[in-house]
Amino acid sequence: MIYDRKPLPTTLTGTLTHSVAPSNIALIKYWGKRDATLQWPANDSLSMTLSQARTETWATIAGDGVDRVSLLGSAFSENQAAKALRHLNYLRERTGFTQRLHVETWNSFPASAGIASSASGFAALTLAAIGAWSGAHSLEHMATLGYGPSTLANLARRGSGSACRSLHGGFVHWEAGESPESQSVTSLASASHWDLCDLIVVFSQQAKAVGSTEAHEFAKTSPLFQPRLAALPERLHIVRRAVQTRDFAALGREVEAEALEMHSVMMTSTPSVHYMSPASSRFLAALRKSRHELGTPAYFTMDAGPNVHVLCERRCADQVLEAIQALATDAAENQNFSIIQDAIGTGPSVHKTEVPLRC
Ligand code: DP6
Repeated sequence: MIYDRKPLPTTLTGTLTHSVAPSNIALIKYWGKRDATLQWPANDSLSMTLSQARTETWATIAGDGVDRVSLLGSAFSENQAAKALRHLNYLRERTGFTQRLHVETWNSFPASAGIASSASGFAALTLAAIGAWSGAHSLEHMATLGYGPSTLANLARRGSGSACRSLHGGFVHWEAGESPESQSVTSLASASHWDLCDLIVVFSQQAKAVGSTEAHEFAKTSPLFQPRLAALPERLHIVRRAVQTRDFAALGREVEAEALEMHSVMMTSTPSVHYMSPASSRFLAALRKSRHELGTPAYFTMDAGPNVHVLCERRCADQVLEAIQALATDAAENQNFSIIQDAIGTGPSVHKTEVPLRC
């Protein structure tokens, strides 16, 4: 259910900066912040960049001197539009660019449903804005103008934390560091290192009731939060090693435990946040049963939503897809669901594009 047409902006014409930024799925979750204003996470996280679930954004200098952001194909909620406009203000403040922008953006997947649309969205917005202001025609060009991946990650992070991990392809480690300023985002391994697939079972396309930014704030009230933080360095070590040695079973075991732990923190915080739906919960149990009884070579993870990411190696993807179609049909109990067939991706891109005037 990837909307795989070639999108074109409908309100912008002329020479536009066009950015494409992928979503990412966290293997070690970013959950809880030490400082929400400075976007300083409570812990390190590690993600896999996707290729199909992505945001495409076009930007141009505003002729009328007023920022405008719009979402192609549907309407921005007031909150989303306000967040995007705030981010443009923040970028201007940090970079010294002053011009207002007209921006149009498009998601290849349902937004706000636990597929990290804020990650791809704020990564794409940052790239498009910097491209429009600086005149850069590629990421390489942007780097020569002083906007390399680290600078871009720092800028994107302020829009949404997980966006900083979408500036690289492959496996990406966001280190919390000892201070907000010493955070870093680095590539652990490129996409060609390990061809993993992420089959995303979409049980619901509804925007979630409690946004992740709000829910991050509750994390520290959970009695499980401090024990989680204390144990995370060990988990990170195991996951990093599993990626480096391409040990799928070791990775899967840890990633499932990690997702369940984050959801336990969510459910035991005050107020309690419950992102898992009955269908997703039935599906998790069924996938585990299928793995134990039939050897289905797949593991799950979930972000802040009811949809389930099923990870598998490319060589097993057909077998896993067939298995999870049957499992999801049972778990959904006559409700609709769909599956996005995604995989590890190489990261974002930026270029200039000409959109002719329309009559
Ligand atoms: C559950 O990046 O959406 O997806 O920084 O407040 O925008 P803000 O939060 P966001 O949080 C993502 C949380 C997560 C786990 C993860 O992606 O690591």
